[in-house]
Amino acid sequence: MDLNLKNTLALVTGSTSGIGKAVAASLVREGASVIINGRSEERVATVVLELRALGNVHGVVADLATAVGTEQLIEQVSAIGPVDILVNNVGFFEFKPFFEVTDEEWSKLFDLNVMSGVRLARTLLKDMLERDWGRIVFVSSEAGVKPNPEMIHYSVTKTTQIALARGLAELTKGTRVTVNSALVAPTWTEGVETFLSKIAASQGTSVEALKTEYFKVDGFNSLLQRFATVDEIASLIVFLCSRNASAINGAAERVDGGMVRSIL
Ligand SMILES: NC(=O)c1ccc[n+]([C@@H]2O[C@H](COP(=O)([O-])OP(=O)(O)OC[C@H]3O[C@@H](n4cnc5c(N)ncnc54)[C@H](OP(=O)(O)O)[C@@H]3O)[C@@H](O)[C@H]2O)c1
Repeated sequence: MDLNLKNTLALVTGSTSGIGKAVAASLVREGASVIINGRSEERVATVVLELRALGNVHGVVADLATAVGTEQLIEQVSAIGPVDILVNNVGFFEFKPFFEVTDEEWSKLFDLNVMSGVRLARTLLKDMLERDWGRIVFVSSEAGVKPNPEMIHYSVTKTTQIALARGLAELTKGTRVTVNSALVAPTWTEGVETFLSKIAASQGTSVEALKTEYFKVDGFNSLLQRFATVDEIASLIVFLCSRNASAINGAAERVDGGMVRSIL
């Protein structure tokens, strides 16, 4: 299927690894020009070089955990061109008991997982509405509709993204701009590997053992019964970014491996 992405410019936040990198690679393969983002010069340059073999790729180093960093990203991106597609992918996750998460930690997580998308949309959605075409996808999680008691703070940021996407979609009424969220399954990424390595070290077990254990407890309801691959997740996100997805707006689309046991 041709996703009709030629002559579009896409920004994928947090795209030096994991789901973001897979989405960026797939968008480039589909003919979009893509802006890679991450915090380190070296990691951004490496991914830009790798993906340039597939098409037109730019890189912008910016830390989206702060308003200043997000502003720097917006400035550098506007020098490249008007953004047609924004994938709000950047996000941090950790297991931490609710009673131990401080105000500062809640704020830090909100800044990165939620406010980066708010700040980018404030500028980029406005431009898309003026040009009467655009796509925004928030990379949320099944945890956004099924809060995980071991990561309540993270789950709340993912629920907020879903509400934010729906709210922003309301602003697009009658235009050719869409805003959606994707409810992503547990997916095997660098971030998840690091996250499980820390837990394995603290529990004196192995990452492999935790990977299997996960689907007996937290992931019991998963119909997939394994971690999704980044490409399986990117398929949905890239489709939502495409011209072909013009009638999908304000939706929370599930690519959750069947984790959420509900019809709707
Ligand atoms: N993996 C899962 O199981 C899963 C499930 C549901 C939802 N999600 C969501 O999917 C998204 C991506 O997850 P992932 O597992 O692919 O993550 P990941 O492997 O940890 O990758 C995170 C990416 O974000 C970048 N990044 C981190 N902090 C940043 C910051 N402050 N500013 C700019 N870039 C930053 C990292 O680049 P640098 O380190 O180079 O800066 C990296 O490219 C997140 O929003 C997550 O909540 C993931």
